[in-house]
Amino acid sequence: MPGSSAKDLKTACLVTGCAGFVGSHLTEALLGLGLAVVGVDNFFSGHRRNMAGFEAHPGFSFLEKNILEPEILARAVDIRPGLAHVFHLAAIVSVPYSLAHPDEVMAVNHQASVDLFDQARAMALASFVFAGSAAEYGDCESMPLAESDAGPNTRQTSPYGRAKYLCSRHVEQAGFGSSLRFFNIYGPRQDPGSPYSGVVSRFIDQGLSGRPLTVFGDGGQSRDFLFVRDSVRAYVAAAGLGRVPVLSGVFNVGTGTSTTILGLAEAVRRLTKNRAPLSFLPQREGDVRRSLAEVSRFERAAGFKAQTGLDKGLARTVAWARAQRGSA
Ligand SMILES: NC(=O)c1ccc[n+]([C@@H]2O[C@H](COP(=O)([O-])OP(=O)(O)OC[C@H]3O[C@@H](n4cnc5c(N)ncnc54)[C@H](O)[C@@H]3O)[C@@H](O)[C@H]2O)c1
Repeated sequence: MPGSSAKDLKTACLVTGCAGFVGSHLTEALLGLGLAVVGVDNFFSGHRRNMAGFEAHPGFSFLEKNILEPEILARAVDIRPGLAHVFHLAAIVSVPYSLAHPDEVMAVNHQASVDLFDQARAMALASFVFAGSAAEYGDCESMPLAESDAGPNTRQTSPYGRAKYLCSRHVEQAGFGSSLRFFNIYGPRQDPGSPYSGVVSRFIDQGLSGRPLTVFGDGGQSRDFLFVRDSVRAYVAAAGLGRVPVLSGVFNVGTGTSTTILGLAEAVRRLTKNRAPLSFLPQREGDVRRSLAEVSRFERAAGFKAQTGLDKGLARTVAWARAQRGSA
């Protein structure tokens, strides 16, 4: 491209949702690999503070934009003509919000995602990795959940899950790019501050402040908890930036082990030295009873195994949350 410098032509990635919990860790990791990153976010649920570690990095450029805007990929390529990889994480992530605002969530999480994917494919980029979700399996009872357990007849329990499924199917049918169906990701920077927050960040926040941990339903629900660093390793592998070539298709990403909410609550109470009794609230609409990943497809394709167990991951997350409180 005329006028482009060698710096501009460095291999670059687009990360949508770069101010979010996972997107900020992914951006950091990609910059650490020596790649340039164009990040997009509109701060719907993400925070500028999550970008503090990389906002001033010379390889990073930021577009404060809504992914509903049609020209995002073209703008990113203008900034970084060497753009070759797209990691699409921007989404409205709250299941309850999606039940209350289905049209908005379908527009952002489904239509905008499909449009971005189609543009990336038309531009013959090297890879496109979509942030899929275990919510695509709806209330499927067969455990562990294999990729084939979500199909056209699966009834997702929320527009959030429906939109994720439709995007994953679009990616799979195109034969280009991959959708990673993540189970419950947790770790530093996950926001405890909204009523829709992930259970781990909410429990840690309640634990450290000495309040009762609030459990929706009887706490017998179980989840497959994945440490954020492992989710980043999965993105890097799927884009062909690790040890295996770029992947195509749909892959579960989890640990293959499950923990009940009561078990998680006990672990967090121990780590945070919280002695308050648990507080039980009514079951939430859209919450499934069990969720556990069948992980062999991604293991075969990418040699991927989660490396950080729950005890270690929780201890790191609690240490981070303590440090945040100390510096607040
Ligand atoms: N955290 C998990 O357990 C988990 C599990 C499965 C899938 N996922 C998926 O991973 C991705 C990242 O999730 P997260 O946990 O980091 O959540 P997050 O809320 O921290 O990150 C989402 C980011 O997308 C941004 N965003 C939302 N709407 C946007 C829009 N219209 N335009 C531009 N930016 C927008 C938000 O501001 C936020 O920074 C999401 O797609 C989510 O559905 C997360």
